[in-house]
Amino acid sequence: MQYVNLSEDIYFLGYNDRRTHLFENIWPIPHGISYNSYIIVDEKIALIDTVERSFIDEYLESIEEIIGDRKIDYLVINHMEPDHSGALRAIVQKYPEITLVGNKKTFGFVENFYMEPEHLLMVHDDYVLELGKHRLQFQTIPMVHWPETMVTYEETQKILFSGDAFGSFGTLDGGIFDDEINLDFYEEESMRYFTNIVGKYCPHTQRALKKLAPFEIKMIGATHGPVWRTNLDWILSRYEKWSSYTLDDGVVIVFGSMYGHTEKMAEVIARRLAERGIKNIRIYDASKTHASYIVNDVFKYKGFIVGSPAYNNTLFPNVESVISTIEHLAPKNHYLGIFGNFSWNGGGVKNLKLFAERIKWELVYDPVEEKGTLKKDNKEQLLKLADAMADKLQAE
Ligand code: FEO
Repeated sequence: MQYVNLSEDIYFLGYNDRRTHLFENIWPIPHGISYNSYIIVDEKIALIDTVERSFIDEYLESIEEIIGDRKIDYLVINHMEPDHSGALRAIVQKYPEITLVGNKKTFGFVENFYMEPEHLLMVHDDYVLELGKHRLQFQTIPMVHWPETMVTYEETQKILFSGDAFGSFGTLDGGIFDDEINLDFYEEESMRYFTNIVGKYCPHTQRALKKLAPFEIKMIGATHGPVWRTNLDWILSRYEKWSSYTLDDGVVIVFGSMYGHTEKMAEVIARRLAERGIKNIRIYDASKTHASYIVNDVFKYKGFIVGSPAYNNTLFPNVESVISTIEHLAPKNHYLGIFGNFSWNGGGVKNLKLFAERIKWELVYDPVEEKGTLKKDNKEQLLKLADAMADKLQAE
């Protein structure tokens, strides 16, 4: 991608990754991702974050096109995850006098990942770095996404360089700014980026939002996805909702099923929920849909019902993978239902009960477990489970 002028003396340098299948080697990115860096050209030149290492050559070329023979004075490191620090070593090699700017947690990562920094400037909250006309101010936002994470606020143009915060999966296909693109595309991808990558740290995100609230922000330059200059409320309101575990009425039903018995139980529950007026019902086969998408809906809807057959006396492995992801990200404020199936000794429902104890969501009804084909008594129990879930959702 070409660089784009954001504002006077300030440039966006973004690179689209359409080749990587799994972000962090975990999360599917069928629509790709962009890695965004920024550069401010003043009496002093400051680069803000870098890019993933596969883009080093074109990144260095773009920088040279913008600044010519001048040297970069500062590399501001908002975040050290390698999708943003991947070009750090190349930048230091090309501009050996550059000063790395970070906070007290940053430089340990620099040393462990790349090198012992030669020139460094340690900043703290409210520290101001003068570049000439432009002044940069720093605020730490720990755990959004790593312990060292901070944001950089450019005072004259009121631009917040926000790191991962307010970022999105999905490449930038021509449009860079939020008002140049159809945001419908980013509705799911920005939420999936948040829930998958930052979702474990919702309380930290809430603290970050409160910390940044006093700043007048006219533009947000995140390290992934669009630059926000017109629809800032679009992304800010979503971050507020997602990070406060504000959930809509609806139920996610996840099942694993080898021979169709457990799937049929899921269908019975879903039909009853629909009869009770629940409109948002999503059934997922854990063997088909990646946990990335399932957990995203768990961050949307208040109800969660999970079913597993026994598999070698324990959980069906693909269901286990989904609940492990949910436990890892630990969303809150849910109602839970459990069901399952077995052929001889069981083990699925038994382990889902342990999941219920660990996750501490409110169990709306006793777990329902069938042996083989669904029979009348257990069908009645599934209907009662669905009714209990509907009652909870509709009581609010
Ligand atoms: Fe986009 Fe936490 O790195």
